[in-house]
Amino acid sequence: MTDTITIRRPDDWHVHLRDGAMLQAVAAFTAKQFGRAIVMPNLSPPVTSAADAAAYRDRIMAALPTGSDFTPLMTCYLTDDTDSDDIAAGHAAGIFTAAKLYPANATTNSAHGVTDVAHIMPVLERMQQIGMPLLVHGEVTDGDIDIFDREAVFIERILEKLIAKLPDLKLVFEHITTEQAVRFVDSAGPNVAATITPHHLLINRNAMLVGGIRPHAYCLPVAKRELHRLALRKAATSGSPKYFLGTDSAPHEIHAKESACGCAGIFNAPYALESYAAVFDEEGALDRLEGFASLHGPKFYGLPVNEATVRLERRENPVPDDIQSGGFKLVPFHAGSALEWQIL
Ligand code: DOR
Ligand code: ZN
Repeated sequence: MTDTITIRRPDDWHVHLRDGAMLQAVAAFTAKQFGRAIVMPNLSPPVTSAADAAAYRDRIMAALPTGSDFTPLMTCYLTDDTDSDDIAAGHAAGIFTAAKLYPANATTNSAHGVTDVAHIMPVLERMQQIGMPLLVHGEVTDGDIDIFDREAVFIERILEKLIAKLPDLKLVFEHITTEQAVRFVDSAGPNVAATITPHHLLINRNAMLVGGIRPHAYCLPVAKRELHRLALRKAATSGSPKYFLGTDSAPHEIHAKESACGCAGIFNAPYALESYAAVFDEEGALDRLEGFASLHGPKFYGLPVNEATVRLERRENPVPDDIQSGGFKLVPFHAGSALEWQIL
């Protein structure tokens, strides 16, 4: 049995670092685990210009503990009014690594998102031309579509058509949750990839609903049936360069989670790599963890891999019921249980 593994320092290709006091409270957890992270732009108001993104990047850098070895990679929040020249200029200036498509009202702070992909076709054409990645929250928002079907319907109604029109667009299907998404990504070209969260690899919808309603297991896209979780585990551990690590760590204040209308998001940053290690261990694929966590993402984004390494050891790693940080009480993923791996 393998009891220690050493891999290149991983990156998180999808994280919510928030702003203000919450940013101060959570930034260190991501910076400790990861060399770089793709930072989501769904602040209020959203990050829609290169100037916003540069200022946000400065606030993130200022929130890091001294001596952190961490680089935030910034994204632009697409709206119906995004201008293709602005996007291209921000990308050329090295401020925007990618742009994020939130369908309007799909999730937290997405009210300013895109109401119809047709409105941003000139932007997407330009992104295809310059090789700038489009990051997609892949859920339809139509009231008549069941919440558990919203990702699968998005593939049929939006993604398949988009890729047919723009076959060379670099596209990351974010936080995939279904076997349909795995099939779509597998059958697309090398310009189409996906991130997978630790929680979608570890829980199915029962975690949210059995024995009581459990708001800390609620996120969007919502966890699906077991068969989907198994498809995601197979994809993540397959060794395919199309799949890479993206935690979607999304902290909310405890009262916003434990509420009559609780916010979507799982705060998994404190134990993220240990969570993924558990999955790869259970699947007998620890030798593929480094590809998923540290190699496939940089390759897709055209960035160098990290030089530093990190060592994980098999040992009991208890997770507290909550974490007090920066004046907030946050409930982490795995709260009150224990992981079998620990970062040394
Ligand atoms: O669970 C989620 N939380 N999914 C998202 O898409 C957004 C995120 C957040 O910002 O809270
Ligand atoms: Zn997210």
